[in-house]
Amino acid sequence: MKRFLTAGAGVLMLAGTLNAVPVQAEERPPTVAEQSLRALAARHDLAIGTAVDTDALRDAADPQYRALAASQFSSVTAENVMKWESLEPTRGTYNWGPADELIEFARKNRQQVRGHVLVWQNQLPAWLTQGVSDGTIGKEQLRDILRNHITTVVKRFKGKISQWDVVNEAASDPWDTPSSIHLKGFWAQHLGPGYIADAFRWARAADPDALLFYNDYNIEAFGDRGPSDKTWYVYTMARRLRASGVPIDGVGSQGHLGTQYGNYDALQVLEVLDAFSDLGLATAFTEVDVRSQMTDGVRAGDSNEINPRLQASASNYSVLLQACLANRRCLSYTVWGFTDRHSWVPGWFSDPPEGMATLYDESYRPKRAYNVVKADLAFSGPPYVLPRVSQKPRR
Ligand code: G3I
Repeated sequence: MKRFLTAGAGVLMLAGTLNAVPVQAEERPPTVAEQSLRALAARHDLAIGTAVDTDALRDAADPQYRALAASQFSSVTAENVMKWESLEPTRGTYNWGPADELIEFARKNRQQVRGHVLVWQNQLPAWLTQGVSDGTIGKEQLRDILRNHITTVVKRFKGKISQWDVVNEAASDPWDTPSSIHLKGFWAQHLGPGYIADAFRWARAADPDALLFYNDYNIEAFGDRGPSDKTWYVYTMARRLRASGVPIDGVGSQGHLGTQYGNYDALQVLEVLDAFSDLGLATAFTEVDVRSQMTDGVRAGDSNEINPRLQASASNYSVLLQACLANRRCLSYTVWGFTDRHSWVPGWFSDPPEGMATLYDESYRPKRAYNVVKADLAFSGPPYVLPRVSQKPRR
């Protein structure tokens, strides 16, 4: 009791002293809670990004989407509008409007833009896939079409895009047949494996300054480094591309995780980032989200089912971010949508239904994952977390 009273008197005396010299409220530095993600990430030169749904961005009835996209993030990626089917729905007729809107939004808000995506087997325009399947587009012509697409798009946005996902999701998964990892999909099938090196060379010729990335999912951690280890496959592919002088500058790890899986720890994830950066490559997390199964209990609002999912989701966001912070060549950490109100997850995974994958809930209330990301950005620094090392584009 005596100790308590003495301490209390000390506090009163201190308050008295402080009263003598009034402290201006605005001199107090912002608390961590008051800071934005982008302000905290800037301390590490790290770009913190989000995929942007441009329909939501222009929806006047949804002003919070725009406000948070602008205030919390220092980088944006087009969720869909820079994909081939959006940019060139009809052969030879480009629709730049929505992509330009996003670029303008980024300029106004002093944000970087990650370009997504130049070469991918999904969301290709029907004129292209049909032309190939009915034989009106032959192999040589297809190569010319791809070169022309890359050249046109990269030149169009030259100087406005900091990182391009040049080739996306080219590697198969262990659950495909055969289970040994191989190049899969439309481009490998019709052009053979050389299309990857070609794509990087064409992109470099069109923009000497943008960083050129290979981007894929399920490459967060090494497995047994055998034929079915996708991370190892992508690592050896990147090593070969570097060794043969292909102008690849980085590898993007998408980071689509689910709380129902085993997942990884930050040291396992860091091992992979370090392996890539030891090749001279930049790294990035490009599409982070951590979804959960929406059981009957979750949907009924049962906190016993909801809480462990929110916590596991937050913990996985943190694992990827800590690894990124610890790798000085990890230049950006991008989430694939920031609110459950606009997320690809519920539309994609319906049996069983999945959701709750992002940093904010459907009413824009920040979730535990948001606070954990914030805390990681705020409470990290030397000796293990140091400012980013900038990457020079490889010519
Ligand atoms: O635009 C049409 C609209 O006109 C139509 O009414 C509606 C009906 O379904 O579909 C709309 O297109 C949808 C499009 O998103 C835009 O909302 C497509 O059906 C839907 O398939 C498409 O999904 C996108 C998905 O890529 C397709 O591959 C997701 O939004 C997008 O988040 C997702 O992003 C990918 C990355 O690019 C690469 N890595 C994986 C990631 C998640 O799948």
